[in-house]
Amino acid sequence: MLKIRNHGDRNWSGVWLSAFLVACSIATATSGKTFVCYYQPSARVPISKIPANLCTHVVYAFAEASKNGITPARSSDLARYAEMVALKRLNPSLKVLVSLQNGFPAIVDGGVTAMQTFAKGAVSFLRKLQLDGVDFDWEFPSRTQKDGYMKLISIFRKTANVETALNGTSPLLLTMALTNNNYIAGWAYDMSVLTQNIDFATVMTYDFHVYNAKRDNVTGYNSPLVAPKGESTYLSTTGMLNFYLKAGLQRSKILMGVPTYGRSYTLADASKHGLHAPASARGAPGPAIHVHGVYIYQGICMALKSGATRIWDAASGVPYLYHNTAWVSYDDEQSIMGKCKWAVSSNLGGVGVWSLTLDDISGTCPGGPFPLLRTIKSCLG
Ligand SMILES: *[C@@H]1O[C@H](CO)[C@@H](O)[C@H](O)[C@H]1NC(C)=O
Repeated sequence: MLKIRNHGDRNWSGVWLSAFLVACSIATATSGKTFVCYYQPSARVPISKIPANLCTHVVYAFAEASKNGITPARSSDLARYAEMVALKRLNPSLKVLVSLQNGFPAIVDGGVTAMQTFAKGAVSFLRKLQLDGVDFDWEFPSRTQKDGYMKLISIFRKTANVETALNGTSPLLLTMALTNNNYIAGWAYDMSVLTQNIDFATVMTYDFHVYNAKRDNVTGYNSPLVAPKGESTYLSTTGMLNFYLKAGLQRSKILMGVPTYGRSYTLADASKHGLHAPASARGAPGPAIHVHGVYIYQGICMALKSGATRIWDAASGVPYLYHNTAWVSYDDEQSIMGKCKWAVSSNLGGVGVWSLTLDDISGTCPGGPFPLLRTIKSCLG
């Protein structure tokens, strides 16, 4: 069973006051939507190729959470952070963050003292490198680690605020990546702690289906807007965003996660190429990168150019393609525009994309580099 925080016992004046405050914060939030672009370091997409004016925030993925703060994943990353910060010369309002994925369990298990040491070290690391904030992407705390993670989040916020007050600097951002799984979301986070302490969170509304011989052995959508008939609503973008809204995470702090990559399958029988068709394996590597089961957007465009068939599923708001025994669920300009419009009309805080690196920078797709990121930017305005 999911534990959802119950606000039913609040008195009415409190309800009206908070409704008023929510209305105010929504009114100010509409002046500019957030567009977070996660960046994976890649020789194919060096930082010099990152457009400084497309995203409002770029997030370097990943560094490690460590005892004394933040540790770069590789020693060469320090120079890359600096290069990313230098993009702010081209766009002074761009925010540059670093995302932390591993290392949280040891800090949380160490109790309040370890959490404070981490927070102080992380704040001074961010300031030293002129970064604008940090993104927490622990995948994922267990039931028994939840309270510690929530404590860590409030300790980091407090530590960052103290430093801001002391030095008169602009506040550091604290952002998150949240699970696409309703069970995990139900045990891993306290929505009111998140609302009180973070600036915003990207819900990772993708990877809903990834080929697995025992569990996911038919074709399925990576990131449908709406779940196909017969599937749980929680296996979809709107289903999970509505889950977080209902669970009480503040609307204006929720970003819709959008993928720029597809997930591929090998069809068991080339003549059965619809949704939920039998699959025998992950797809062979896509034409653009050598990873089983993944097509970056450039690979999608190459496949379509070489004769793959595209099918648009209007009910789910996403396309798929097939070619011989290859089958790929992906996102394109049409699906991303539809998703982004849903995010805007639902008054969410914006969109977070995984990832900038996997969009087409080669010009293989029509219309020039970064077609998917440009679609999101034009939708968010
Ligand atoms: C295919 O997946 C289903 C669950 O969706 C499972 O019950 C079945 O055993 C799987 N088939 C094989 C051959 O593993």
